[in-house]
Amino acid sequence: MEYRNATFEDINQIAKLQERYHVNTINEDDKKDGFVTTLFTKEQFEEIIEKENGLAIACDNGNIVGYAMAASWEFWSKWPLFQHMIKDLENTTYLGQKLNVENSYQYGPICIDKAYRGGDVLVNLFEFSRQEMSKRYPILITFINHINPRSYEAHTRKLGLDVIKDFQFNNNNYYELGYDMSKKTKGSTI
Ligand SMILES: CC(C)(COP(=O)(O)OP(=O)(O)OC[C@H]1O[C@@H](n2cnc3c(N)ncnc32)[C@H](O)[C@@H]1OP(=O)(O)O)[C@@H](O)C(=O)NCCC(=O)NCCS
Repeated sequence: MEYRNATFEDINQIAKLQERYHVNTINEDDKKDGFVTTLFTKEQFEEIIEKENGLAIACDNGNIVGYAMAASWEFWSKWPLFQHMIKDLENTTYLGQKLNVENSYQYGPICIDKAYRGGDVLVNLFEFSRQEMSKRYPILITFINHINPRSYEAHTRKLGLDVIKDFQFNNNNYYELGYDMSKKTKGSTI
């Protein structure tokens, strides 16, 4: 398995993976194993690649089987949910630091093809993204919908993220989680 930053040539495959597991288009049977909610257009994929170097992928013999997004709060600020999170950063303390747009960034969504779940893609893809983003930020922040228990288990029990708080937005309940970027991901092999 190869872990690397995506380029423009990878966008079509990533968009297909997104479509398969996005809440609006996911097959009903797959929903219990998680779904992504932030929907990227082709231009937004290009922007996160070009401006943020923030699209990590897992590639198996040329097939993209997983992706993890990561970017500055400025990048995310076009989505209302992130505007809400950005406003609340100053009310949030993690690892003894009050959060702001300089000391933290937003990781996610992450999405892994179901044929590759339950293996080492999760930890290694997260670790690759961590290695890249730790060059710029000391703290990772993310969110998980309460109705996505698989993602919650994966991020808390397996990857070791901390739950910082709960919040509500648009009639949904979310966990806000954090991670200390200086920590190598437990169980990763890259
Ligand atoms: C979330 C995701 C990246 C996690 O990667 P993964 O490879 O599936 O993670 P793992 O299987 O290693 O870990 C998940 C754990 O939750 C467990 N689990 C599965 N369904 C569960 C459920 N409904 N409730 C509680 N735990 C559950 C799994 O058994 C596993 O634990 P185990 O290894 O001890 O058995 C992947 O499932 C995915 O891409 N889902 C679709 C998109 C998504 O939800 N993205 C996250 C948005 S925040």
